[in-house]
Amino acid sequence: MNESILKQAISQYKTPFYIFNTDLLAVQINKLRTALGPDVELCYAMKANPFIIKELQDLVDFYEVCSPGEFRICERAQINMNQVVMSGVYKNQSDIEYALNQYGNQIIYTIESLTHWQLIENYALKQQITIRVLLRLTSGNQFGMDESLIRQIIENRHQNFISIDGIQFFSGTQKKSIHKYENELNMLDQFCCDLKKQYDFTVKKLEYGPGLPVYYFEDETDEEELILGGLSQLIKKLTFGGKIALELGRSIAAPCGAYVTSIVDTKINKNQPYCIVDGGIHQVNYYGQMLAMKKPPLIHWNKRSGETREWTVCGSLCTINDVLVKQYPFTSLQTGDTLIFEKTGAYSVTEGISLFLSRELPQVLLYSEQNQFRIARNMILTDHLNYFHS
Ligand SMILES: Cc1ncc(COP(=O)(O)O)c(C=O)c1O
Repeated sequence: MNESILKQAISQYKTPFYIFNTDLLAVQINKLRTALGPDVELCYAMKANPFIIKELQDLVDFYEVCSPGEFRICERAQINMNQVVMSGVYKNQSDIEYALNQYGNQIIYTIESLTHWQLIENYALKQQITIRVLLRLTSGNQFGMDESLIRQIIENRHQNFISIDGIQFFSGTQKKSIHKYENELNMLDQFCCDLKKQYDFTVKKLEYGPGLPVYYFEDETDEEELILGGLSQLIKKLTFGGKIALELGRSIAAPCGAYVTSIVDTKINKNQPYCIVDGGIHQVNYYGQMLAMKKPPLIHWNKRSGETREWTVCGSLCTINDVLVKQYPFTSLQTGDTLIFEKTGAYSVTEGISLFLSRELPQVLLYSEQNQFRIARNMILTDHLNYFHS
């Protein structure tokens, strides 16, 4: 993130905080679209970072929304419901009925089980409206349905009001092997072609979550462009004839974010320098970090000359696991200094064990050149969530 933005943020706001530079979203989406071409739709998996959905409205085609909470966020942000794909492994009747009553058939629903199918089917029959769905194919876990069940549903599709737009598939995040994409896309292409041949069913849309990787650590060679280019080539080879939408979270959101935390204490224990920060692992998370051994993109804001030592950066939770990075070389590190963890736009703000120790939820700032700084969330104390109200 640009130094002058960080400088302003650090001078104005109390740590710990997240800052999301929403101008970088357009840059990142442009990168993705340039590599993938105009025919590939982009669906933002908002679980990666819900704070930026409004800024993505004109940049992405769809949002993957996985819970009633995420859906309410879309409503508050006034997201166009034609852009919503209501996904998620647990869909209950009242939530689905609410969405259908409010927004009719604007939303596309994913079907992850026979229960989901029946729920949507019953409503569609009762209201005599056609509801568009994607059938989620499992990759061998609790999500989606077996191929045999999808075939059965498609074979019997004429008896109801549901319009099956296509297939959804996601098998995992941070996938760094192009062969995995190749295997998955070949399998999906074959499956879609089979559905045409055997049931005269046209897959209009394949919604695929590739799990594009973000390279976080110092010792890694950044292959983001290479993988994206490879994925694009594989997509061009698909033969089933429908549209392809990529469900992406990490690769859209990660580059726009930084997490800023202050050093509140330093000590040397058994010859190892430790610094304690006012944040911790409940607020920042790098997928693939291993026992804090890997070095994430980290800036020591108060650089000064002097002695360089290898510091272990620990958070403020009372657990031995609250180590952000081990033996990181800092020069003349002091209490009061600021550390900035970059590429934290995806999952850090949502994935942490944020109620542990009843510490606060950090402030969230949005920055854009046009709107400058906006507070998207004030710091929130959590202790009242961890004890009953009298
Ligand atoms: C169904 C689905 N699609 C897409 C994504 C986004 O994955 P990523 O952040 O790796 O792009 C996820 C993440 O968990 C997911 O569950």
